[in-house]
Amino acid sequence: MTTTRRSFIRSASALGALAALPGWACTRESASKSLNILVLGGTGFIGPHEINYALARGHTVTMFNRGKTAPGMFPDVENLIGDRDDQLDALKGRDWDAVIDNSGFYPRHARLSAELLHGHVGKYLFVSSISAYADTLTLEDDEFTAAYSVMDDPTDESDRIYGATYGARKALCEQEIVKVFGDDAINVRPGIITGTGDPTERLRHWLVRMQAGNEILVPGQDDLPVQYIDAADMCGWMVRLLEDGTGSGPYNAVGAEEPYRARPLLEGLVDATGSTSTLTWVDWEWLRANAADIPSYAPWYGAGPMPFMQVTNARAMAAGLRFRPIADTAKDMIENLAEYTPQYGPGGLDLETEAELLAKWHARA
Ligand SMILES: NC(=O)c1ccc[n+]([C@@H]2O[C@H](COP(=O)([O-])OP(=O)(O)OC[C@H]3O[C@@H](n4cnc5c(N)ncnc54)[C@H](OP(=O)(O)O)[C@@H]3O)[C@@H](O)[C@H]2O)c1
Repeated sequence: MTTTRRSFIRSASALGALAALPGWACTRESASKSLNILVLGGTGFIGPHEINYALARGHTVTMFNRGKTAPGMFPDVENLIGDRDDQLDALKGRDWDAVIDNSGFYPRHARLSAELLHGHVGKYLFVSSISAYADTLTLEDDEFTAAYSVMDDPTDESDRIYGATYGARKALCEQEIVKVFGDDAINVRPGIITGTGDPTERLRHWLVRMQAGNEILVPGQDDLPVQYIDAADMCGWMVRLLEDGTGSGPYNAVGAEEPYRARPLLEGLVDATGSTSTLTWVDWEWLRANAADIPSYAPWYGAGPMPFMQVTNARAMAAGLRFRPIADTAKDMIENLAEYTPQYGPGGLDLETEAELLAKWHARA
């Protein structure tokens, strides 16, 4: 079942009163048992969602990072300073119930932290990615049948963090954690994470664009499947998975229950955000032939790798993952738009070029 515009709006408006409360979908009551949780990272995008939720549930949190990103973000949380690249001394001689690893991108780093922490933490939750899957992924695949992405030289660390070998390195990191932690390893594989603090334009572009009003150019097919997960939903669920103690193995963390479809998603967001915009769907081929430089519009790729936007979340949902309506995610993001500093380039055309292209599109024979 896919989301229709009507069902999208119904779910959004029924819950509208709760929209201002990030994390509504996850209970924020204290957990029955307080845990000591180590967070590798913690001050980027998803880390703060994990930490805020864990603190709200009554857990004690320790962060480990270099102290470069947003220092002082959590003045009341212990911050151990070090580097994944062989400066782990601050972690020695300490015990935690669980670790959440946000900052593992190279298998050597994953191995070093897993070996050092083994025997000193219960569960090792590694934040991986669906990019760990090979391009052979099919709609029928799940966490156990999908093949891993591979790289020629697994020891090659020359690529940047989010470079071409990102997925293969995540796959290797997962394997390092499992090698050391066995059944106590949890590999969470998110798809596109969005929500408050998302440093990308993958959802923000549409929200900013809708706020500007006027006609919006939307490239590609209007039934394009799209999966977005709100960081607050994912991070709250990860903390609850650690509380529960039974989590083990890989979980795809993709939202929502069913993939959105491009048209009802964007039309629903126009309604939910009170935008006066109209949407005009423009063929990719025409766009490429008529525009010199088209930004990535991720994840609005042409005929893109569809299985990567329709990944099963059945295993994670059976383990308690739940999703707020994306209209609520949008409302949270709009409230905080001024705080955003997108770090990965534009998510669509600039307004002037867009208007020129729309005029040309309407004037075509
Ligand atoms: N966004 C998505 O759509 C998406 C999708 C799939 C998977 N993921 C995964 O989700 C995770 C998201 O990370 P995030 O940025 O949101 O995490 P985060 O915990 O919020 O921020 C990254 C943290 O890592 C620390 N760090 C970076 N390099 C380090 C190093 N060499 N040694 C020690 N600490 C270091 C940074 O602090 P310092 O700079 O101070 O060290 C920062 O605290 C990543 O693993 C990513 O692969 C994201």
